[in-house]
Amino acid sequence: MKRQHLIVVIMLLIIFGVYHAATAGESGKELFERYCVKCHGTDGSVSEYGKNIKPNPARDLRTNRLFISPRELPVIIKYGVYGREMKAWKDILNDDEIKEVAKYVRTLTYTPDLKNGSDLFKLRCAVCHEKEGPNKKLFGAPDLDMTPLADLEITRTIRFGRHGTMMFPKGSFFSNPEIADIVAYIMSIKK
Ligand code: HEC
Ligand code: HEC
Repeated sequence: MKRQHLIVVIMLLIIFGVYHAATAGESGKELFERYCVKCHGTDGSVSEYGKNIKPNPARDLRTNRLFISPRELPVIIKYGVYGREMKAWKDILNDDEIKEVAKYVRTLTYTPDLKNGSDLFKLRCAVCHEKEGPNKKLFGAPDLDMTPLADLEITRTIRFGRHGTMMFPKGSFFSNPEIADIVAYIMSIKK
């Protein structure tokens, strides 16, 4: 009886061993190179093809830590983005592979350009958010150096806007790195 148990255990180990080897065979980087670079580019900074997708181009993935929470990232990859060229990958990648590719996407990085953030802010935001401007009084735009929001929430407010207010979504004017530059500027003036 005992020996039979041992045989069952050994067989299970072999089966899981083989299964594990099959699923862990391709690293996240390889999966990314095979399925994602076509649109997102080798370093995540968007390929020429991805830039030309109309009307909504692929987005830069180097900034993903600022835009997407850790739990959300595999969900986006698994189910895609409604109405966009970003399809659901669940029929092509299994859950382990999605986890691996998400882990790899997490390693991509972008260093924000504070000067560019400050320039864009003056050009596009100060008209409402400047300390004493007339639009500020008109629309009630808050002082951003006093915002209680953290960087992820600021990023989302800029990209998706605020329903029913003059804070329009800006995701189609700005690339993810441009938004990241502006957010870095706001974080630098935050009290
Ligand atoms: C055919 C082109 C295409 C391919 C291939 C593709 N994507 Fe996308 N992806 C897009 C587009 C377009 C968007 C932008 C959706 C939007 O406008 O919000 C996007 C958005 C995303 C986002 C959200 C980014 C953000 O800032 O909101 C993630 C994460 C992402 N893709 C990951 C991946 C991964 C991982 C793969 C490979 C498994 C992949 N994509 C393959 C086109 C593509
Ligand atoms: C047309 C005027 C206008 C422009 C331009 C504008 N905003 Fe706003 N913004 C607003 C208003 C009004 C609110 C307050 C919305 C509300 O009532 O919740 C707001 C809210 C915000 C908030 C939320 C702050 C908080 O503490 O809740 C952020 C962050 C922000 N804006 C960033 C920006 C950035 C960055 C730009 C430039 C890229 C920009 N805004 C351009 C009008 C504007």
